Amino acid sequence: MMHFTSVHDVTNLDTLVQDALHLKQHPYQYKHLGENRTLGLIFLNPSLRTRLSTQKAATNLGMNVMVMNLDKEGWALETQDGAIMNGTTVEHIKEAAAVMGQYCDILGIRSFPKLQNRQEDYSEDLLQKFISYCKVPVISLESATRHPLQSLADLLTITENTPAWKRPKVVLTWAPHVKAIPQCVANSFAEWMSQAAVDLVITHPAGFELAEEFTKGATITHNQQEALKNADYVYVKNWSAYQDYGKMLPDAGEWMLTNEKLQASNKAKVMHCLPVRRNVELSDEILDGPDSLVLEQANNRTYAAQAVLKNILEQL
Ligand code: CP
Repeated sequence: MMHFTSVHDVTNLDTLVQDALHLKQHPYQYKHLGENRTLGLIFLNPSLRTRLSTQKAATNLGMNVMVMNLDKEGWALETQDGAIMNGTTVEHIKEAAAVMGQYCDILGIRSFPKLQNRQEDYSEDLLQKFISYCKVPVISLESATRHPLQSLADLLTITENTPAWKRPKVVLTWAPHVKAIPQCVANSFAEWMSQAAVDLVITHPAGFELAEEFTKGATITHNQQEALKNADYVYVKNWSAYQDYGKMLPDAGEWMLTNEKLQASNKAKVMHCLPVRRNVELSDEILDGPDSLVLEQANNRTYAAQAVLKNILEQL
């Protein structure tokens, strides 16, 4: 792959998953591959897992890594073409991305949506401009609409926990939150699951429908309890509205997952990308219980990133 911004950049998903699982067993086998290569990780938003796991993945491959919190440590970035920069922005993305591309062999960038203008966010303007101006391979560390490294780690986790003969039922359930959250993780999870050997059910309150481009092939219901019946995996995530863009709707009802609700499932394993608001999104009893996969998912972030980096390094 040249860039890694969505599942559509992956030539063979099964090979990528198997590669990641192999790297988990043999993390230093390809230590030579990244010799004298530099990865730049650019953050316009906070991160714990993405930052540390991608850095660890690159180190396992022998790469040098530079990390920059561009929102705090860089010049205020202008992204509009033809802008008269007599206001607060100091550096245009044309120069900033081009310069970073001169210093690095591969770049990763995290840029969340502003959740104010759907058309602007869903055009992935910043990511696309960054790719076009930096002139090196780019890995999305979570963009305005997707979080592909998380989704690959999620698929690894499901693959590891599922017998080869089984086609699991996977439920993506909306969860409450205290503030408006992007749709990226949910979009991305639905998109990746549609390419995997699973049956995907998405459940959410009315008004939280995701964009159809991400949910093709999934069963969608507003009845959470019905969705949970015989589920093998339940992926818990909040997202703000796509139609009434970026809004949290009042009176969503009782959507926090509990062990009582899970009784209808097939002893389902519970997933969440983290960070999680305990006892808002997910109950303590589930997070601290035997069926939580959240730490396994976080661990798999390293091997997801390592498989992607390895694939790109092999083509440089
Ligand atoms: N899941 C995830 O991307 O975590 P961070 O935001 O901490 O990187």
